[in-house]
Amino acid sequence: ESLSISDRANIAIDFIRKLLPEPLRNPKVAVICGSGLQHLAHALSDTPRVEIKFADIPYFPQTTVEGHTGKLVFGYFGDVPSVCMVGRVHFYEGVTFDQSTFPVRLFSVIGIETLVVTNASGGLNPDFKVGDLMVLNDHINIPGLAGWHPLKGPNDSSFGPRFQPLSDAYDHELRIKLFAAANKLKLKRSIHEGVYVFVSGPTYETRAESRMLRIMGADCVGMSTVPEIIVARHSNLRVLAISLVTNAVVTDPTPKASAGNVDLAKGIANHEEVIEAARLAGDDLRLLVLETIKSL
Ligand code: 6GU
Repeated sequence: ESLSISDRANIAIDFIRKLLPEPLRNPKVAVICGSGLQHLAHALSDTPRVEIKFADIPYFPQTTVEGHTGKLVFGYFGDVPSVCMVGRVHFYEGVTFDQSTFPVRLFSVIGIETLVVTNASGGLNPDFKVGDLMVLNDHINIPGLAGWHPLKGPNDSSFGPRFQPLSDAYDHELRIKLFAAANKLKLKRSIHEGVYVFVSGPTYETRAESRMLRIMGADCVGMSTVPEIIVARHSNLRVLAISLVTNAVVTDPTPKASAGNVDLAKGIANHEEVIEAARLAGDDLRLLVLETIKSL
């Protein structure tokens, strides 16, 4: 097919707008719900509220991972017309970055001003505990630095510039508002601020890779978010990104066989623990996102 991304986004938006009642047609905030964080959508108003399955939207990428239901939910956070994307498509599922970031292009075309992205990540910073939150204030894009980048290829200037700066990618004012909201809510959960490193996955990191990522300056590691943020910044959306630390990454050197028997099971990452940690933290994150959006 020879349709451009902007043609596709416009076709998809035409389809979506026809399903939306007038008050929901111009959402201002989009929230992407990460692994196990689909309950964020429960903070949206019941009326008006419209749910549209990914599968029904022209050109929308389809999720294949368990724990990632695919739908857009339109409603209000407080008095802010918004959309929640429940589930997302990851690069490791075999799609291109054009496909995995298509929802963000769509948000740009429908007039979204602020994008809130959530994800589950592995904690590299030794001060981080399972269940802590981290507000992203910077990122490291490993596939991007190696030439696999969502803005690679001809630039579509209807979205943004050829050379997009990213030194201000994570909006300072939105981060201030998030911390103010957390104080107001008196959340017990620790909220850090730091650097998220994006890796392709689908494997979790080896111990040596985890040490490398930590030495590079990353506080947590995950398989999402960064491509969406880059595409959002290309369209000049304001970005707030929050990571839930679902497991502590093992950075200790692999025990030497010559040292005899050791407990090797400790600290091996698995999808079930990621989903469980996300479930437990879901309520706090929902309150925090809702309060922050109300304060925009
Ligand atoms: Cl340990 N690594 C990566 N790449 N993604 C994760 C994770 C770890 N934990 C949750 N998501």
